[in-house]
Amino acid sequence: STTQVTIVGSSNVDITALMNRLPGPGETVLADSYRLTPGGKGANQALAAALAGARTEFIGAVGNDPHAEIALGQLAEAGVALDRVKHIEGATGVAIISVDAKAENSIAVISGANSSMEAAAVTAAGALEGVLVLQGEIPESGIRAAIDAATGPIVLNLAPVIDLDRDYLCRANPLVVNEHEAALILAQLEGSKELSTDPEPVIAQRLCDEGIASVVITLGGEGALVAVRGTDGAAEITTLPAVKVTAVDTTGAGDAFTGALAARLAAGETLIEAAGFAGRFAALTVQEHGAQASYPRSLNNL
Ligand code: RIB
Ligand code: NA
Repeated sequence: STTQVTIVGSSNVDITALMNRLPGPGETVLADSYRLTPGGKGANQALAAALAGARTEFIGAVGNDPHAEIALGQLAEAGVALDRVKHIEGATGVAIISVDAKAENSIAVISGANSSMEAAAVTAAGALEGVLVLQGEIPESGIRAAIDAATGPIVLNLAPVIDLDRDYLCRANPLVVNEHEAALILAQLEGSKELSTDPEPVIAQRLCDEGIASVVITLGGEGALVAVRGTDGAAEITTLPAVKVTAVDTTGAGDAFTGALAARLAAGETLIEAAGFAGRFAALTVQEHGAQASYPRSLNNL
């Protein structure tokens, strides 16, 4: 059905330490507290899509350790279909996250079960219905298999940026990335070793020139930019202003944006409408600690 969103991707348990400032190399700092919360870009996006009103399925993998239940708990509660999640022998993915008093973070991901999401596992899952959402936290072969099995539009959030063949990158509609990821993908497509320092609208146009039909560049506190390639090849660029908020933790804000965007696309909104909603949805999440833990449970103020 048209309101369906399917996410193929990662799920983790986030171990987040809150501290005044992040340690430098070789340094020890004393943190204030830590939390164990569900995360992983794919699972975060699935929760966001469900909370934004879409019928949502998450396809991924967890281990047979106690972390598995934490990783999937919020998704189950929100009614996300989990029947095709693989439970493998081994460890659930873990993200070690540090967040400082200025809401800066650093994240290291230990993939665990997520690395089992190779092509064979994705193909075995079967048909992928509705709007398909993908990120860069499962193996490239799994991403390609998911794109091959897509039946609807593909929202590709290539975070982190991994090597992906041009033919697959160009199936994104839209590609959703931050400024840094946009420059990395452009360099990949143009076969260049240097990162472009062009302004974002120019980078978006150049991504469209390389064959991507639409691009959303998220700009953190500066809002977002939507580029849609027209029939003449010129990208029509729309800038969406940021919602002004005080950030305490931006972990998973990009995932909230991507999941909410997919839900609204599935509901039939235009890319610009959907991105506007996604920006407001994501802005709510940065005001609370955690990824999934901070996603809005009510859409009343959106
Ligand atoms: O984008 C935020 C997410 O990145 C965290 O939840 C963490 O699990 C890592 O995957
Ligand atoms: Na948050």
